[in-house]
Amino acid sequence: MNTKVLITGGAGFIGSNLARRLLTMNYDVLVLDNLSEQIHGTNPESTSTLYNSIKNETNFINGDVRNQKDWEKALKDVEIVMHFAAETGTGQSMYEVSKYCNVNIYGTALLLDHIINKQHSIKKVILASSRAVYGEGKYYCPKDGSVFPKERKETNLLNGNFEPTCPICSSTVKVSPTDENSKLHPTSIYGISKLTQEKMLISVLKPLKIPVVTLRFQNVYGPGQSLSNPYTGILSIFSSLIKNNKKINIFEDGKESRDFVYISDVVDAIMLAIENSNADYQIFNVGSGEAVTISDVVKKLIALYDTSVPYNVSGNFRLGDIRHNVADLSKINKMIGFVPKYTFDQGLKLFTEWVDKQILNDLEYETSLDTMKSKNLLK
Ligand SMILES: NC(=O)c1ccc[n+]([C@@H]2O[C@H](COP(=O)([O-])OP(=O)(O)OC[C@H]3O[C@@H](n4cnc5c(N)ncnc54)[C@H](O)[C@@H]3O)[C@@H](O)[C@H]2O)c1
Ligand SMILES: [Zn+2]
Repeated sequence: MNTKVLITGGAGFIGSNLARRLLTMNYDVLVLDNLSEQIHGTNPESTSTLYNSIKNETNFINGDVRNQKDWEKALKDVEIVMHFAAETGTGQSMYEVSKYCNVNIYGTALLLDHIINKQHSIKKVILASSRAVYGEGKYYCPKDGSVFPKERKETNLLNGNFEPTCPICSSTVKVSPTDENSKLHPTSIYGISKLTQEKMLISVLKPLKIPVVTLRFQNVYGPGQSLSNPYTGILSIFSSLIKNNKKINIFEDGKESRDFVYISDVVDAIMLAIENSNADYQIFNVGSGEAVTISDVVKKLIALYDTSVPYNVSGNFRLGDIRHNVADLSKINKMIGFVPKYTFDQGLKLFTEWVDKQILNDLEYETSLDTMKSKNLLK
């Protein structure tokens, strides 16, 4: 009998890509997903390419991780649980607090209640966590060595001082790759909910001797990612603005950076986490190990789409945003042999070629920014 895998959120960007890979490797794949409108549109049958890419090949339960009965249906005979269903917008989490906590935290609580109290055949649980658990990651201070700067002060940001400072001596610090032992001090409700998921799973499953693997994804991108969600996915948001000939507002001074990891590399890392028992009970960063500034992202996208929309570096900023991020991949490389295959330039080319073939609707990005402004979260 093929191993039965449940992917919660398996109709989403990462989950659907994982589902298709697992099918090629003869796993029996079951998806539990509520086809959230923000991701899949008003009528997923026609508005969601992601859902359509898996619905005929997998067993699909249209259900919600906030519903105990749906978990009961979904967990029957399952050996591996991939817990990927989540609300994922960092900015949005700051004003839809109860929704984020319900889906991400209460949903995980119901999974654990089931495992503790009901019959099951679960042998491994893998959590899609996020680099958001680190808040501002690791930096280097010439005087104090490795440091973990606190959330940036609003007064500094308002004055255009965007770089974090040393929490000990206040001098300027340089970004370093963030490893898994770095300080955990998330700056958003989203990050807090992801850290809570991590701790809940480890504290309950470890004593039960059910291996749990925590994967902290950096910014995942690639063909198939939602082009209609204005709350997350910076490459999609910029692509949609460029394609609709709209001006791009680059926040801060454009020198903020992120670690963009290509979707098939992420699926490679997840497969290693499933199949290699060295991964059991471990926490791993999953990224590219390459830092790219947001200004570079915009320039590269405009060049690849071969158009000329205007862009300006506005000095605007979102409260709770981090300044830099780049993952240290030593641990996942040493323990399970993960090596990303795609550079940002290679992955971005494939992403834009895919976007070129899509029909792009208006993203209502401006509306999402207005919402953030009205709640004093965007300055
Ligand atoms: N994409 C990234 O860059 C990234 C980075 C770090 C972590 N992650 C994590 O990876 C996971 C997958 O992210 P993604 O990018 O594929 O997101 P996604 O939004 O594309 O997929 C999430 C899926 O979960 C489903 N879902 C949402 N609420 C649900 C609920 N209450 N019940 C059942 N299903 C529900 C949605 O319909 C969607 O199909 C998430 O846990 C996210 O926090 C993603
Ligand atoms: Zn210092």
